[in-house]
Amino acid sequence: MTATAAIRQALALHGGTPVRPTLLPYGRQTIDEADIQAVVDTLRSDWLTTGPKVNEFEEAFAAWVGVRHAVSFSSGTAALHGAAFAAGLGAGDEAITSPLTFAATANCILYQGAKPVFADVTPDTLNLDPERVRSLVTSNTRALLPVDYAGHPAEIEAMLEIAERHGLTVIEDACHALGAKYRGRRVGSVSHMTVFSFHPVKHLTTGEGGMVTTDNAGFAETLRKFRNHGISSNARDRQREGQWHYEMVLLGFNYRLTDVACALGLQQLTKLEANLARRREIAAQYTAAFRGMPEILFPAAKNEVLPAWHLCPIRLDLQKLSAGRAEVFRALRAENIGVNVHYIPVHLHPYYKERFGYRGGEFPVAEAAYESLISLPMFHGMSDGDVEDVVRAVEKVAGHYAR
Ligand SMILES: Cc1ncc(COP(=O)(O)O)c(C=O)c1O
Repeated sequence: MTATAAIRQALALHGGTPVRPTLLPYGRQTIDEADIQAVVDTLRSDWLTTGPKVNEFEEAFAAWVGVRHAVSFSSGTAALHGAAFAAGLGAGDEAITSPLTFAATANCILYQGAKPVFADVTPDTLNLDPERVRSLVTSNTRALLPVDYAGHPAEIEAMLEIAERHGLTVIEDACHALGAKYRGRRVGSVSHMTVFSFHPVKHLTTGEGGMVTTDNAGFAETLRKFRNHGISSNARDRQREGQWHYEMVLLGFNYRLTDVACALGLQQLTKLEANLARRREIAAQYTAAFRGMPEILFPAAKNEVLPAWHLCPIRLDLQKLSAGRAEVFRALRAENIGVNVHYIPVHLHPYYKERFGYRGGEFPVAEAAYESLISLPMFHGMSDGDVEDVVRAVEKVAGHYAR
């Protein structure tokens, strides 16, 4: 059924019956008995933080991604901060990133006293536009922070080529892209440093948590110190060696991920392939269902990548609808579909506007995309029935507002 052909049923927003009786969230974790048991076992062990599970998780994660080093952090945000520090960002430096991202991507540049410089995105994938990036590199630029928006890898080869030419570090924000592939390689094994998040809506969760992967031993060493107050050894190693002596060699933070969280992460990692496969299946079901709906633009996937489908951000063709995004959003929520919007462009947040003087209009592609974006539910625990509910709700709402 196409939207335009859909029977005009009364929208729940206007007092009709919602497509489903309870709210389907846009993202949600899946925790099974093995996850619970792993956490309980660790709670009964000698180590709650920085024990054996941290190393085990980091090693297993690095092996899965296909990279030499994985350094865990207490969140994706802390991991971004660590990467910005390891890249040497400081006062007077600039780092170029996307405006269409979660604020944490740009905030990590500010944490280091450097300046975020936004470059617009391309209209197809909504990832950082390499041409725009090239035109913004100055003698102050030190790093590029491409974002793998929604789980579709950014133009990493172009970023690495620009970085090579100007001596920059590429920090890929892959908080959406665990399990994605770029030209046959797993995301996390390509950029100088890659950052992941283990927030509950992600492909793998530790509650809160994050990771930086890198093939560079120097970056890895700095990251390990930075997340542990800038101290050159950890408590477990000192206990094992009968040592008390330690040295603080740089100004770091307590950004450690606990053994309890890493025990959960290790268990979750065993299910990652299956979770990714399910997300791809859901994306295929949505693609098939929305193919005949001209009001909906489904996210693009380039030939050279395999997206990880963290989010499913559709774009509304507002020319073909008699309502704006806000009303379509409210109508879908009333149908009990937990839609969301990713993202309000970072430069339009009050903090960025006040500090840097942005007024809107600076990044037309990102801003126009934002006006039409709606993220549909996308998580590996969704049943086929949940997917059908989303499709029915989108058909119902788009059918109602179709011009
Ligand atoms: C693109 C992006 N970067 C960074 C983060 C921050 O990760 P965390 O919530 O683990 O701190 C997120 C979190 O959702 C994100 O989506």
